[in-house]
Amino acid sequence: MASYLETAADIAREAGALLAHYFERRVGFELKGEFDLVTEADRASEKLVVERLRSHFPGHAIVAEEGGGHSSSSDYRWYVDPLDGTTNFAHTFPLFNVTLALEHAGEMAAGVVFDPVRQELFAAERGAGAYLNNRRIRVSQTAKLEDSLVCTGFPSRRRHLSVNIHFYHQLAMATHGVRRTGSAALDLAYVACGRLDAFWEFGLNPWDMAAGRLLVAEAGGKYSDMQGAPHHLSSPHLLADNGHLHSPYLEIFGEIFSGRYRVPIPGL
Ligand code: IPD
Ligand code: CA
Ligand code: CA
Repeated sequence: MASYLETAADIAREAGALLAHYFERRVGFELKGEFDLVTEADRASEKLVVERLRSHFPGHAIVAEEGGGHSSSSDYRWYVDPLDGTTNFAHTFPLFNVTLALEHAGEMAAGVVFDPVRQELFAAERGAGAYLNNRRIRVSQTAKLEDSLVCTGFPSRRRHLSVNIHFYHQLAMATHGVRRTGSAALDLAYVACGRLDAFWEFGLNPWDMAAGRLLVAEAGGKYSDMQGAPHHLSSPHLLADNGHLHSPYLEIFGEIFSGRYRVPIPGL
């Protein structure tokens, strides 16, 4: 599996350099949906990643966000987000990444998240740990909800249906703070290296979280859906954290799911 990870890391670095080039030039955006942005850089990065994967692993299946994947009955399937954080990118807010992960026989085997602005490559292989630029990373030791720094995100598509603002408010009251970076794959990578203690989000796509979930698990953390059930790439929501915080987060989420709020939402 090591050579898959090395190849994925090389491809992510190459695609990251391409993204950085577009970022310096500043690119315009188009809309895929009402508030769902896509840029020339998303498409160029996806073309590069898919071409490289196809030339290294011609038989493997590829699921890629912008539709340029490859179907195959192979046991090996790549998940590709050629630019995670497109809204940040389009506004020149310097937080975005390219991420790819390999699933083998239904299990995530390897994954990378590359941030070309900070030149940070997060990489994990199943059973072999998680790394940031070749140094081993571990999740944080924070054990109390009220001492934790947590992160979430909001969907671009059908955002009017999102219930996340209720969770955001409660967690903003119960923790050191809630961050919303606009880049789910980096959020998960940051949980893996201890910069964040926890992350939750509703409605992510498989390519947003395939590599990040593996990073968290390999760094000693834990993930499930937000109600404690095993998490699948098609689950409706995700909670990933340092493991110590899993129960306290599930507890407060359980209260919110059942309409019980620790702190009422203030009126205007
Ligand atoms: C988005 C980002 C964002 C998350 C959204 C994703 P994209 O991915 O990861 O943080 O909140 O749900 O769709 O569209 O920039 O690849
Ligand atoms: Ca994404
Ligand atoms: Ca994307």
